[in-house]
Amino acid sequence: MKALVLAGGKGTRLRPITHTSAKQLIPVANKPILFYGLEALRDVGISDVGIIVGDTAEEIREAVGDGSAWNLNVTYIRQAEPLGLAHTVIVARDFLGDDDFVMYLGDNLLLESLRPFVEEFQRHRPNAQILLTEVPEPERFGVAVLEGDRVVRLVEKPREHISDLALVGVYLFDRTVHEAVNAVEPSWRGELEITDSIQQLIDRGRTVRAGQVTGWWKDTGKLEDMLEANRLTLSELETRI
Ligand code: DAU
Repeated sequence: MKALVLAGGKGTRLRPITHTSAKQLIPVANKPILFYGLEALRDVGISDVGIIVGDTAEEIREAVGDGSAWNLNVTYIRQAEPLGLAHTVIVARDFLGDDDFVMYLGDNLLLESLRPFVEEFQRHRPNAQILLTEVPEPERFGVAVLEGDRVVRLVEKPREHISDLALVGVYLFDRTVHEAVNAVEPSWRGELEITDSIQQLIDRGRTVRAGQVTGWWKDTGKLEDMLEANRLTLSELETRI
């Protein structure tokens, strides 16, 4: 299993902090957000990691290097423009080959281990597995509608309320995702959405499983989220006094 870590994009919502630097490198409890994701991937035994980079490629490279600090083998994949999460899968096609992979959004902070999530995928072999969590502002995320434990519908940034279950930025895919990402059209925000690609999988009769996050999760897209992420991470620290 490989991993695709997304560290491209522009980070406009975090201006002015990210005016000159990558949002994935903003420290939370003194450590860049991106490093928490790399650690989580290493901890489930993944070693081949492709990192999607855009305008801030140099900074990301400088911070992560060849990945040996985490025993990872890092390949940088340049995305010329941030055309969407599904677009990153298209540009990473050669790196991914036909392997299963974890897609990890580099601005997401998830404190629980990915192990149960990966084990469930390996046990049930769905075509895709997503992680959900209940949120107070579903309009800021992609959301999923369930029937029992089956995912029946996914909508990116819903304008009308259809569900409180947001998609967390960690996904598992097998190779069928490649046909799905090539089948989607740009959304109203002009991006090729991974949410629409997963809907494509459902429409094509593929299996999409959903798990729920039990611990806390933050999409560090806004300033308040960054402050909250710092507070939560610090409160989890083990003290040795
Ligand atoms: O955080 C969870 C949410 O992430 C999900 O609920 C949504 O369904 C999903 O679409 C995504 O929404 P965002 O609008 O928050 O995604 P954002 O543009 O912040 O991008 C997420 C990460 O991917 C971030 O580290 C930047 C990187 N990225 C983004 C785009 C659009 C790329 O590397 N390339 C891109 O083209």
